[in-house]
Amino acid sequence: MDWKIQLFKLNYNELEKKAVSDVLDSGWITMGENIINFEKKFGEMLGKDVLCSAVSSGTAAMHLAFLALDIGQNDEVVMPALTFVSDANCARLVNAKPVLADCSSEDNWNVSAESIKKVITDKTKAIVVVHYAGYPCDMRPIVDLCKEEGIYLIEDCAHAPGAFINDKSVGAWGDIGCFSFFTNKNLSVGEGGMTSTSNKNLGKRLASLRSHGMTSLTLDRHKGRSITYDVNEPGINYRMDEMRAALGLTQLEKLFEANTLRKNLTERYRSNFENTKIKIPFNKFLQSNSCVSAFHILPILLPIGVNRTSVIEHCRKRGIQTSIHYPAFWDFEAYKDRFDKNDTPEALNIIPRELTLPLYPSMTFEQVDEVTRTILEACE
Ligand SMILES: Cc1ncc(COP(=O)(O)O)c(C=O)c1O
Repeated sequence: MDWKIQLFKLNYNELEKKAVSDVLDSGWITMGENIINFEKKFGEMLGKDVLCSAVSSGTAAMHLAFLALDIGQNDEVVMPALTFVSDANCARLVNAKPVLADCSSEDNWNVSAESIKKVITDKTKAIVVVHYAGYPCDMRPIVDLCKEEGIYLIEDCAHAPGAFINDKSVGAWGDIGCFSFFTNKNLSVGEGGMTSTSNKNLGKRLASLRSHGMTSLTLDRHKGRSITYDVNEPGINYRMDEMRAALGLTQLEKLFEANTLRKNLTERYRSNFENTKIKIPFNKFLQSNSCVSAFHILPILLPIGVNRTSVIEHCRKRGIQTSIHYPAFWDFEAYKDRFDKNDTPEALNIIPRELTLPLYPSMTFEQVDEVTRTILEACE
């Protein structure tokens, strides 16, 4: 379908083409200097002494986090009721039980220390928080709670590269951070991800698990640094290749400028929808000076009684692409009967009314205005 205004557009130009063609010319296409540089520069953005491992997706990062923290049978992992299914899938793939925590309020869709506390049991081994739409969770009380309870903290930062709380980056607050560089993300390489940690042992384990648990890489052997390898523990192949790392480095250079463009467009949407029936979450968040959002997506809350499918259809007819972040777990075949939706009343209120509007760095204010008009028309 040819959209007049699509949900997302890549922030690519000649630089990305050159980055990939330079790798192809170099003759070394996996786990080389680009990976080393990308991990180093990404780590520097996150903070002092943050160790990063580039991986093949955000889901691979989360799966590795669960493996590195020895999460398994009889463990419970608390995660937001409003998140992508990959978090719960990863828990189930290591035979742990996903447990859902509620959104904080109709304005703050992130989980909070209070909503997490309600579902902690003596089986809880880890908490996964998601910085939804790029807006960071209120991390200080969540970190304190995890310390008090002796529970691991994992940050799903798929939406939030470039987001900070009190000058400390997301991905540097918990035991492990997981980033996604999937096509539609703020930093996109097609398929890719990153783990982050400030714990040296975890950093080593994550890097090793990503590559079969091997003690040396092909590059080490090529450079004569090592002849063979040992295997410390069974790992997996979740490596990223050099083409993607080169794209990642180029995109990292553009990240903050692109996030500022997203911010300006978000502000335009917010002022357009002010005093209408449409609510945009994280309003209060934006009044606080301590947080910087990555402005990943533009979620709106439709008024009660408006049929979301009709709104989507109305937009589609006018060439405007919309999306849903995210469908409810309890509606998925694989998750039926695993959760009681009444246990997370805020999420139950928000999820069926959520609609995601187009947002990408090269979008124009005129396009934002057109989307706004179309949504308001559809809600009449
Ligand atoms: C909140 C969230 N978590 C995890 C993921 C998984 O990332 P990936 O698609 O790179 O596996 C995504 C991306 O789609 C996401 O939006």
